[in-house]
Amino acid sequence: MTPVLSFRDVWVEYGDHVVLEKVNLEVAKGAFVSIVGPSGAGKSTFLRLALGQEAPSRGSILLDGATLPPEPGPDRGVVFQRYSVFPHMSVLENVMFGARCEQAPLTGLLVGATRRQARADAVAILQQVGLGAALKAFPRALSGGMQQRLAIAQALITRPRILLLDEPFGALDPGVRLDMHELITGLWREHGLTILMVTHDIKEAFKLGTRVIAVDKRRHDPHAPHRYGSTAVYDFPLDDKRKTAIPKEIAAMTSGA
Ligand SMILES: Nc1ncnc2c1ncn2[C@@H]1O[C@H](COP(=O)(O)OP(=O)(O)O)[C@@H](O)[C@H]1O
Ligand SMILES: [Mg+2]
Repeated sequence: MTPVLSFRDVWVEYGDHVVLEKVNLEVAKGAFVSIVGPSGAGKSTFLRLALGQEAPSRGSILLDGATLPPEPGPDRGVVFQRYSVFPHMSVLENVMFGARCEQAPLTGLLVGATRRQARADAVAILQQVGLGAALKAFPRALSGGMQQRLAIAQALITRPRILLLDEPFGALDPGVRLDMHELITGLWREHGLTILMVTHDIKEAFKLGTRVIAVDKRRHDPHAPHRYGSTAVYDFPLDDKRKTAIPKEIAAMTSGA
């Protein structure tokens, strides 16, 4: 089966600062890939590549075997750690805005049957994320967890096949995180998503992922810290048995998580 995403010898360089080097990776459809690694290793850069927000300096990225379009598209959704909601829009309007941008990119206007459909779609996805009773609320009235639920709904409204999560639960309390784990696992299954999730929480990575990738430098020049970039240094496919045992080399890498 063609992988949904392929990274082929991908490099990212800013001037002489090498951030990623020689990244070779294939992601199967339906995988839940957790990405861990030290701060500054290039994890967010990696997600921006998959989103199409940034192009590699060298190498190529394929989406379903074809060159990844050089801009974000409706087939890829993204959620960041802190969501910048539109504060002047209600929950429902925030989600409908995503549909509007996709369907009427020039005018931003949806009318008649299209508008009714967009509204119904937005309500349905908001119900799935547990915000069905908060359609008219404004973001400032929502807790951090509810705001992340809204961010997820907004990412899913274009029916993406790939969902990119950049430390989505990093700012939430432990109890709320557990609820979010259930939510994201359910959405992953129901929507048949392929997920790439960056996290600082090693336990979260192993609990949610079907595969855990650690991004770090393979080589280091103490006199020129930017000379070498990071790559996928560990790549663990998980079955249920392995989920209980976090490999020592990974545990050591993300200290404090
Ligand atoms: N647009 C950019 N220009 C220059 N350097 C950048 C740019 N984006 C990221 N970097 C650098 O790339 C490195 C990796 O950043 P990032 O992907 O955000 O790491 P992580 O998410 O793993 O913490 C950092 O050293 C950062 O300063
Ligand atoms: Mg980051």
